[in-house]
Amino acid sequence: MTHTASSAVHQDYRYFDIRPVAGSLGAEINGIDLGALNDDMFEEVYRAFVEYQAIIFRDQKLTPDQYLAFGKRWGEIQLYPYAKGLESHPEILEILRTEQDEVAFGNLWHIDGSNYTIPPKATMLYALEVPPAGGDTMFANMYAAYETLSPGMKAFVDPLKALNVGQRELAFFSGIKSMEQKDPGEMVVSTLHPVARTHPDTGRKSLYVGHRIERFEEFSAEETAPLVAQLRSHALRPEFTCRLRWQVGSLAIWDNRCTQHYAIDDYAGQRRRMHRINIEAEEAPY
Ligand code: SIN
Repeated sequence: MTHTASSAVHQDYRYFDIRPVAGSLGAEINGIDLGALNDDMFEEVYRAFVEYQAIIFRDQKLTPDQYLAFGKRWGEIQLYPYAKGLESHPEILEILRTEQDEVAFGNLWHIDGSNYTIPPKATMLYALEVPPAGGDTMFANMYAAYETLSPGMKAFVDPLKALNVGQRELAFFSGIKSMEQKDPGEMVVSTLHPVARTHPDTGRKSLYVGHRIERFEEFSAEETAPLVAQLRSHALRPEFTCRLRWQVGSLAIWDNRCTQHYAIDDYAGQRRRMHRINIEAEEAPY
């Protein structure tokens, strides 16, 4: 769905104010305490998540227990296999950048866990420390990416599968001293996923071209590279993106089945501390 009136409050929501932040995806939500949700409120939150794909709630004051309880409303928590969670709450991953780190974690367009057999359904991020300016996160709408392909390109990608390789996760840690990597064991899997996939909630197709693609099935890596580069450059056009600005107490949740995201690395020498939770998908999303 394309949202045109980006400053208007959406009237279909009863429990909070919701405003689109860009024309293609993304919305900001005010006026709700995620620590005190009932089932009706959660149903509305989920509707906003499906409609806008990336939503950010302002002014939350959640303890780790409350944050985890909110996470568990969405499904099973999926542990991140490449780094340890908090000592007290292993389901919560701390994404920390300090003055010593050379890069920000997640500083490339990607889809969380695109190499897993069943990639996470959603990711949530809760801001605890943010720089005075910078450190925003960008999102891109992969429905729009698919829907704007030419008929010829749709026919090419529709039957296609791509091998998504786990080793590419390691790029996230190079130059990062503040986050300790751990042995991911058998989660360093490489998985074939469809390049065009159907969303289980909406029935819409989206383009699934994350950075872990090594090659298309029945293609060589050399043949695949320029095709993936072309598809990614189309999918990540500015028109399909939005940018969420963090404040302490902001909590964003995005639909990992139909978006890509990018942590902007423009605050070198400053601290940023976020708590991340991934939610398991009920099924492989095709
Ligand atoms: C991530 O890629 O999961 C982190 C995004 C961010 O820190 O903005």
